[in-house]
Amino acid sequence: MTDRIVSRRPLEEDQQWEPTLRPRLWEEYIGQEKVKENLRVFIEAARARREPLDHVLLHGPPGLGKTTLAYLIATELQVGIRATSGPVLERPGDVAAILTNLEDRDVLFIDEIHRMNRVVEEILYPAMEEFQLDLVIGQGPHARTIKLDLPRFTLVGATTRAGLLTAPLRSRFGVLHRLDYYSDEEIYRIILRSAKILGVEISPEGAGELAGRSRGTPRVANRLLRRIRDFAQVLGDGAISEELAHMALERLEVDERGLDDMDRRILHTLIEKFDGGPVGLETLAVAVAEEKDTIEDIYEPFLIQAGFLARTPRGRTATRLAFDHFGIPPRARPQGDFWEVGN
Ligand SMILES: Nc1ncnc2c1ncn2[C@@H]1O[C@H](COP(=O)(O)OP(=O)(O)O)[C@@H](O)[C@H]1O
Ligand SMILES: [Mg+2]
Repeated sequence: MTDRIVSRRPLEEDQQWEPTLRPRLWEEYIGQEKVKENLRVFIEAARARREPLDHVLLHGPPGLGKTTLAYLIATELQVGIRATSGPVLERPGDVAAILTNLEDRDVLFIDEIHRMNRVVEEILYPAMEEFQLDLVIGQGPHARTIKLDLPRFTLVGATTRAGLLTAPLRSRFGVLHRLDYYSDEEIYRIILRSAKILGVEISPEGAGELAGRSRGTPRVANRLLRRIRDFAQVLGDGAISEELAHMALERLEVDERGLDDMDRRILHTLIEKFDGGPVGLETLAVAVAEEKDTIEDIYEPFLIQAGFLARTPRGRTATRLAFDHFGIPPRARPQGDFWEVGN
């Protein structure tokens, strides 16, 4: 597991490094230009009116900068931030405690917001809408509700899949942004920045090699960079050249398109066992021995965006590109061109 390049949540090792590598200034946050531009306008407007920013929902695959952005929003608003996550908020009291302790216009960041339970979620509705808390005191016939005024605040929620949010919760966010995979050029810039912070020398070609294999994901790029740094230190002269990056990535079993072991297993299974598909997600998950949610949250979005996999009404199919990638000739099918992307 320590060799995982792709993961749902930050690994322990990331948590150790992320405070160092995480952009602290708006200017250091590379890419996602549209999201940034919009947010800056809303932030400036809210600040000028001395009002809290509208609630913000950030969604997109893991490692694309949602948490980083939440912190940047608070910095830019010049307010405090409290961070928690959906699964941690178990009882209404947990939410009440956090909300009543906020300062005016603070940011409350809830990671994995789709994993909140229903009771907690319902406490949030009036809090988000009117900055009020409806607390039930007592039980049975003596139970009564009291209303409590809260400080005005901005809820920033992050989720890997907005589709898992309930409609009432989703409708209470004024600003919704989807973070997309980064271009190789943006990842390249992120790598150069991180290398500088880590104090490791990297050639432009070395950085380019790494950028092309980071699946458009800053966290993956940083993770690979740290691993390659180890190879450079032990097997080279400490600097990351193109050759060294190439060798290290081979050893890490990250191929030239950034596919890792599980990506390859998914595609290979689709091609070999299911004749390219279509096959249902559940069946595919069992066949590759991985959780369905993990495939759907992490692997599939990248494979689709890279053009290796297609989602069809009848299930998942491997595209022609996937067959080509493994050097397997696509078999002719009576139904015609089954493996093309885009449906
Ligand atoms: N736009 C960016 N520019 C530079 N580095 C970034 C950017 N987005 C993310 N990172 C890096 O990737 C790491 C993971 O980002 P994070 O915000 O934790 O992702 P998420 O919350 O979406 O899973 C951060 O620690 C940071 O170092
Ligand atoms: Mg995060």
